[in-house]
Amino acid sequence: TGLVVAMDGPSGSGKSSVSRGVARGLGLRYLDTGAMYRAMTWWMLRQGVDLDDPGAIGARCGEPLIVCGTDPDGPAIHVDGIDVAGPIRQAEVTGAVSAVAAVPEVRARLVALQREVIGSGGIVVEGRDIGTVVCPGAEVKIYLTASAEARAQRRSAELAGSTVQAQQEAMARRDTLDTTRKTDPLSMADGAVELDTTAMSLDEVIAEVLRLVAE
Ligand code: ADP
Ligand code: CDP
Repeated sequence: TGLVVAMDGPSGSGKSSVSRGVARGLGLRYLDTGAMYRAMTWWMLRQGVDLDDPGAIGARCGEPLIVCGTDPDGPAIHVDGIDVAGPIRQAEVTGAVSAVAAVPEVRARLVALQREVIGSGGIVVEGRDIGTVVCPGAEVKIYLTASAEARAQRRSAELAGSTVQAQQEAMARRDTLDTTRKTDPLSMADGAVELDTTAMSLDEVIAEVLRLVAE
């Protein structure tokens, strides 16, 4: 079976950029599992589901058809045939996604879907629980970190109109929700290599991961 590279870490640590670079470099597929949780959240918001009610989220999470592409050069995501690649990045979704991702029924459904996409491997998979839950047998597991300041600076450079301070507060809130939820919280997997990217360039991080894969 093919190689699986599991890439976990908090928001803004560089998972997406690094995973895409590594997948490109090795000719592998790429799966953004965060996009699936965002797509589920986008659908719940559109349906008017009460996101303070985990029971309601759990009861309805089987309804949307979520299809996620695996091309590192153009990650595609559709919900019921609608292209949601843009809308899932909106602040409304970002602010609500951790509540949706904390619901066990949502995780069970999306983890199953992720394993279907992963299939027999040949893929770089990024998220919060890839090395711990989705793919504990992955050949290479990376845990990306960076200081809260660096992560907030990176994110606010991407999103026009948000201050570093506001960004850092929003990310801290989401990190807390992601690390303290009962089901599959963000944590470092057994056998994972931790890479602190605070003082590294994107190219340096990609080169380091490629070196770890080649070991
Ligand atoms: P995540 O998927 O973990 O939220 P992203 O890859 O979306 O992180 O965001 C990281 C942003 O930070 C990108 O715009 C990327 O170009 C930038 N960046 C700057 N330095 C680095 C680095 N050393 N490693 C990864 N990304 C970096
Ligand atoms: O954009 P960012 O890297 O900050 O986050 P993301 O990777 O798009 O993930 C969005 C949210 O989905 C996270 O904050 C988690 O709540 C959830 N998520 C998860 O629970 N498990 C995953 N494997 C991936 C994402």
